[in-house]
Amino acid sequence: MKQDTRLVQLGRAKADPESGANLPVHRASTILSPNLASYLARFEGDKRYETVTYGANGTQNARALADVAAAIEGGHKAVVTASGLSAVTMAISALAKHGDHLLVTDSVYGPTRRFCDEVLSRFGIATTYYDPGVGAGIETLFRDNTRLVYLEAPGSLTFEMQDIPAIVAAARRCGIMLAMDNTWATPLFFQPLAHGVDISIQAGTKYVAGHSDLVIGIITTASDALYRTIADHVMTWGDVAGPDDCYLALRGLRTMAVRMQRQYESALRVASWLAQRPEVKRVLYPPLEQDPGHALWTRDFSGGASLFGLALHTTDLDATARMVDGLTLFQIGSSWGGYESLIALNKMPLAREVIPWIETPFLLRIHIGLEDPDDLIEDLEAGLQRL
Ligand SMILES: Cc1ncc(COP(=O)(O)O)c(C=O)c1O
Repeated sequence: MKQDTRLVQLGRAKADPESGANLPVHRASTILSPNLASYLARFEGDKRYETVTYGANGTQNARALADVAAAIEGGHKAVVTASGLSAVTMAISALAKHGDHLLVTDSVYGPTRRFCDEVLSRFGIATTYYDPGVGAGIETLFRDNTRLVYLEAPGSLTFEMQDIPAIVAAARRCGIMLAMDNTWATPLFFQPLAHGVDISIQAGTKYVAGHSDLVIGIITTASDALYRTIADHVMTWGDVAGPDDCYLALRGLRTMAVRMQRQYESALRVASWLAQRPEVKRVLYPPLEQDPGHALWTRDFSGGASLFGLALHTTDLDATARMVDGLTLFQIGSSWGGYESLIALNKMPLAREVIPWIETPFLLRIHIGLEDPDDLIEDLEAGLQRL
C-alpha cells in the first residue's frame, strides 16, 4: 500500500449502519467492563499494550492515530503524547539513565536543549552538543557511556542538514541508539526508521494536525522492545493526549499528503523569488540549490516542509518591523505546519555552543500556507519595499 492510500484507509471506523466514516470521539476517563473477568483480563500480561484500560492511558482515538502514524513511518508501533515537546522529552528520558551521555545536534529545537540542560542534568545525564555537519566524525565524540545520538534535520531556525546515513553508520558500529525529530520533513518526505534511526519523533501539532488548532506528539519505534519501553514510560509519567485532539490529528492526516505537497511547491516558489531579491542576504531552505544542505537534502529527502529562514541585509529592527507589521496575508506567529502563512522573528545568537551564529542579528522565519503563492509574493514584495 502506498502512503496516500495508508493516510486515507487506515485507522477508520468499522463499517456499521449506525456509524459515520470516522471513528467517533471516545471521551473517557473510566472504561467500563461488562463483568469482573473482562475487567481483570484488560490488565493481564501484555494486554495493556493492546486494550484500552483507562483514559490516561489513551482511548481508541489515540490508538487509531498511533496505528496510522506508525504505518506511514514504516515503524513497528507508535505512542501518542500530549505535545511535540513531550514526545521529545519522553523519548529521550525513556532511553537514558543516570550516568549516561547523550550527543545532541547543536541545531536542536530550543526547548529540547533546555530539557537536556535543565532537567536531564539534574538526573545525572550529561549532554554534548555536536556540529550538525559532523557526519562520520561523530565517532570521535563517542564515550563509553554514550547512550543516544539525537538528530534533527534541518535544524530549528538555522536549517542545517545532517549526514544522517553517516551518523547512523557510526552509531550502529558502536551500539549507540539514535532518535530523530522529524517534524520538518514528516515521514512523507523523509523516513528516519528506514535510514536506521531507532525512534522517530513528530510534533503532530504541525503538518499532521495541519490546522493550527491543537498540540500533540507522536513517537514511532523501530522495534517492539522499544515500543514497550516508550509506552510504559509515557504511561508512568501520565503524559496523555486528549481524545478530541487525537480525533482532529487523525482527521488532519487524511489530507496531509496533498497539503504538504502543495505547501512545498508554494514554499519553493516563494523562497526562490526571495533569494533573488537585493534586500535578501540568504534564504535558509535546503530545497534551494544554493543552500549548503542542498546536496544532502537531494540525496536523502523526497520533498520539503514549507518552513524556511530569511536573513536580510538590513540589521535595522524598526525597518524590519515596518516590513512585517504591514503584511496583510502573513500573520505573526511562531508555530507552523497549518494551512495559513506565518512570519516570526528570532533574535540571534541562539544558544549554540559549537557553531555560533554570526551572520545576522536576527532571522525571520516564514511558513507558507495554502494561499496562492502569487498573492504571497505580492504581499512580501510590498513588505520588502517598506524596509
Ligand atoms: C522541530 C520541532 N520539534 C518539536 C516541537 C514541539 O512541538 P509542540 O509545539 O507540539 O510541543 C516544535 C515546535 O515548534 C518544533 O518546531
